[in-house]
Amino acid sequence: MNLRVPSIQHDDCDELAALCKAGGDPLRLNVLRVLANDSFGVLELAQIFGMGQSGMSHHLKVLAQAELVATRREGNAIFYRRALPHTELLGGKLHAALLEEVDNLTLPADVQSRIGQVHGQRAAASQDFFSRVAEKFRAQQDLIAGLPQYRDSVVALLDKLGFGESATAIEVGPGDGAFLPELARRFMHVTALDNSPAMLELARQVCEREALGNVSLQLADALNGVSLTADCVVLNMVLHHFAAPADALRHMAVLLKPGGSLLVTELCSHNQSWAKEACGDLWLGFEQDDLARWATAAGLVPGESLYVGLRNGFQIQVRHFQRPAGDTHHR
Ligand SMILES: C[S@@+](CC[C@H](N)C(=O)[O-])C[C@H]1O[C@@H](n2cnc3c(N)ncnc32)[C@H](O)[C@@H]1O
Repeated sequence: MNLRVPSIQHDDCDELAALCKAGGDPLRLNVLRVLANDSFGVLELAQIFGMGQSGMSHHLKVLAQAELVATRREGNAIFYRRALPHTELLGGKLHAALLEEVDNLTLPADVQSRIGQVHGQRAAASQDFFSRVAEKFRAQQDLIAGLPQYRDSVVALLDKLGFGESATAIEVGPGDGAFLPELARRFMHVTALDNSPAMLELARQVCEREALGNVSLQLADALNGVSLTADCVVLNMVLHHFAAPADALRHMAVLLKPGGSLLVTELCSHNQSWAKEACGDLWLGFEQDDLARWATAAGLVPGESLYVGLRNGFQIQVRHFQRPAGDTHHR
């Protein structure tokens, strides 16, 4: 007699089981927590959790198979980030609930301090780049997207926002200072903040040449202890040099007065990894949704956006985010 057992469809169960299994481990939960607002390479995560690369690779593979993390290539490195839950799909609600619970976890102090070390290493790589390339900065920058390609869009957005006569501005990372004359014309006072003495010297020369009497230059790390505030903060092609861009937007929000505007010009996500070597970029552009999500998490409200397509295939996004006028809390 031929006894054939009917086959059971396990596929759906398998998917849910993979999700539960991936979430059923303290280390993996902490990895998800660490990835809340940042993305890291496998070596960085291994450093953050004080373990070997192969052990971390195994855990990331389990998380990736359960679609709890996604990968993105940045040059030669692969960066891991959280995958967004799709609540309409099988397991999506569980995924969303898991992330919500994970976000309430406090990371162990040693993990937090090692995240700081990784950010420090990224920042040092970026600063080292600008100290080496100051002289050929403009040529290097123009390889991808130079100020002439986004100047008009930023100016159009600035003019549309219609700042008052007494309004002030901060430009973070002015580079060689080429945008400062536009700001100086539109604001009563402008502060240019840069953490590279070599770049600030180039900006100083512009101020001198153009007799910009209302611009002050400040050598400072914009992410560390700046106590200024202004009606407008401009960040042109700087965010992709910051070690932790989501955190950086929180710092930028603190520089805004209530009702103030943050203007961010950035590359859209791209896959031209040579930009890391040639232009010192830590990130290969940004997804439009990520910028809006990070800005919202920083208490800002997304406003208008302009997009500029370039002949070399890159796309630039010029974004406006506003601090609500009623948000008068000291941050
Ligand atoms: C690619 S350049 C952008 C220059 C200019 N905004 C433009 O659009 O051409 C980035 C600038 O940000 C500065 N920078 C990077 N990290 C910084 C930080 N943490 N604080 C202040 N300036 C920073 C660099 O020194 C450099 O001048």
